[in-house]
Amino acid sequence: MMRNPDAAGSRPDAGSFLSFDLPSTAARDFSSDTVTQPDAAMRRAMATAVVGDDVQRTDPTVRELEDRAAALLGKEAALFVASGTMGNQLALLAASEPGSEAILPDSCHIVIHEAAASARLAQVQLRTMAAPLGVPDPDVVESLIRLTPEDIHSPRTAVISYENATSDGAVVEPSRMSELAELARRHGIHVHVDGARFFHAAAALGTDAAELARHADSVMFCLSKGLGAPIGSMLCGRRDFVERARRARKWLGGGWRQAGVIAAAGLLALENRHEAVRDIERAHRTAGQLAALEGCQILPERLAINMIYLQLPAGLDRALLDELTARRLGHYPPERGLWRFVVHRDITDEALTDLVAAVAAALGQAQP
Ligand SMILES: Cc1ncc(COP(=O)(O)O)c(C=O)c1O
Repeated sequence: MMRNPDAAGSRPDAGSFLSFDLPSTAARDFSSDTVTQPDAAMRRAMATAVVGDDVQRTDPTVRELEDRAAALLGKEAALFVASGTMGNQLALLAASEPGSEAILPDSCHIVIHEAAASARLAQVQLRTMAAPLGVPDPDVVESLIRLTPEDIHSPRTAVISYENATSDGAVVEPSRMSELAELARRHGIHVHVDGARFFHAAAALGTDAAELARHADSVMFCLSKGLGAPIGSMLCGRRDFVERARRARKWLGGGWRQAGVIAAAGLLALENRHEAVRDIERAHRTAGQLAALEGCQILPERLAINMIYLQLPAGLDRALLDELTARRLGHYPPERGLWRFVVHRDITDEALTDLVAAVAAALGQAQP
């Protein structure tokens, strides 16, 4: 190939003019843990990642990520997928057959926020149950299990699934997980845990992710929620289960090629799991300051991980919206009077102070 002689030796290499140190736009955004920005180390790792073709299983960075995720959860294998939704749906595809049944809390992501994908893709019937804060009661689960699958009226119960941490901001204790696992084992049913925030659940419970994952046949966790990666989730389980999920991922066009570029960010996100403890502590400390404001009601039963749920006296939501906007604090509007603030890795301590000031101002009080 011809080269421009004038340019020879004078062309800077990418590293000399590309700055990876971009300020995060999420430093004051409490709306979600999905707003975090890849940090400088992550951007550098992505730019320099060694890649291959993951469909041919020759992408070394993807393989490293899958091996590492499986090891951290104490499972035989893991699959790198595009999203939490994809991981959950692949779990249903790999653990059920069309016309079988899955038992789940009625408030969980698979039921509420996945566009009825389980009806469209795995074609399982969702047998939902009321579960306060998303935590399943083993007696209720047991009452829903089909005991006579040979009866032509009866579908087979193929899967029990629940979240940890739950979408309601709670966690499922290991003892409860163990009861559910034992129940499922007795009936030959697959247990899938939607662990979009699994490392935060483990940190909140003061335990290890592998210790929690022991009670599930499969666990999906997200690299892009609270751990800082821009894209991706992991589905972990037994090798044969993961191979079925890999085939199902191909059906959906999810067999990706030089995916090492994003897997490189995922590997660093796994290291960020240690930050879960710090963000939970910061959320709980801030919740304590908010609870000290008269009229600010913190929901303690939803204060397990790095999310703060609060309610204000009737009529004050508009005032809080205005105070948050005035301080340029990102937020979701309240849902039926319930506010959620997420303390993620990009949130600065200054933003936390400003959040308390905004709530105090909305309540017409000086900050304590
Ligand atoms: C509990 C839970 N499960 C699954 C998902 C789906 O993840 P994704 O948005 O990556 O599809 C989410 C997303 O917020 C979630 O909160």
